[in-house]
Amino acid sequence: MKVLVTGAAGQLGQELVVRLQPLHDVVAWSRAEMDLTRHRDVREAVLAIGPDAIFNCASFNQVDLAEDQQLTALEVNAMAVGTLARAAAVLGAVLVQYSTDFVFAGTATAPYSEDDLPEPRSVYAQSKLIGEWLAADAGRYYVLRVESLFGGPHRRSSVDRIVEAIRAGTPATVFVDRVVSPSFVADVVSASMFVVDSRPAFGLYHCVNSGHATWFEVGREIARQLNAPDTALSPVSVHDVKLRASRPQFAALNNHKLARAGFAMPSWQDALGRYLTT
Ligand SMILES: NC(=O)c1ccc[n+]([C@@H]2O[C@H](COP(=O)([O-])OP(=O)(O)OC[C@H]3O[C@@H](n4cnc5c(N)ncnc54)[C@H](OP(=O)(O)O)[C@@H]3O)[C@@H](O)[C@H]2O)c1
Repeated sequence: MKVLVTGAAGQLGQELVVRLQPLHDVVAWSRAEMDLTRHRDVREAVLAIGPDAIFNCASFNQVDLAEDQQLTALEVNAMAVGTLARAAAVLGAVLVQYSTDFVFAGTATAPYSEDDLPEPRSVYAQSKLIGEWLAADAGRYYVLRVESLFGGPHRRSSVDRIVEAIRAGTPATVFVDRVVSPSFVADVVSASMFVVDSRPAFGLYHCVNSGHATWFEVGREIARQLNAPDTALSPVSVHDVKLRASRPQFAALNNHKLARAGFAMPSWQDALGRYLTT
């Protein structure tokens, strides 16, 4: 199969390329190789390459900066998705688009499902939601909502920040009242390959590790698995930290739809265990 990976230098993109390369004919685009906001060039190049599947890992992810750079956020997170989707439709290719828990307001008390109403509260979140809608133009498409990604060749996620702090015994601030379902990049890649290979019903899937926890609980689990004291963890409330863009406080997602489709995501504790031992 011929596959195109965009955002190939990013956290998820790098891991996807590593895993796909032994199995498929992979064309990998970093931003330097193809800026996705060059819509005409993108369309022509995609049609010339003729991939069977496109994994779009490119994204404008700077949530606070997006509040001041709305047009750039929309260009990358929404319009570029539309361009890829329409090219995919011409080719009959499948598009895998990645989205975010941030599409929700974060006021729920139980993990969000795909049927819950998105209520994006930031420019980033709005642009990603529009990207979800435009992905549907491909016809054959999967939108995989991930959150709090960790793993992959880049070690710069929130999980990595906590791991480094615990190992070094230096303080790491962790929210006691922000609830997340962390997503291990290796598991997201496996799920992405599963949907393209097995073709469950096209559409939207939550693709996070099973379960949820506050960042403080995630930190305690990291310390437990490292056999280290959790004294480096410095608990804070979301109300103590002023951020430019609003973020969902309760951001847990349930992944039951993906499990029913045939891919059960392991628990976040299991994912952490595999990550910490590699
Ligand atoms: N990281 C998370 O915790 C998280 C949470 C929820 C959802 N997600 C979603 O998961 C997906 C993968 O995220 P990630 O963590 O792998 O992101 P990442 O590491 O920030 O990678 C995104 C890549 O997109 C590239 N890019 C940005 N603008 C571009 C443009 N105009 N043309 C081409 N490429 C461009 C970036 O290049 P530069 O480095 O040159 O800017 C970067 O390499 C994204 O859809 C993201 O929204 C991630």
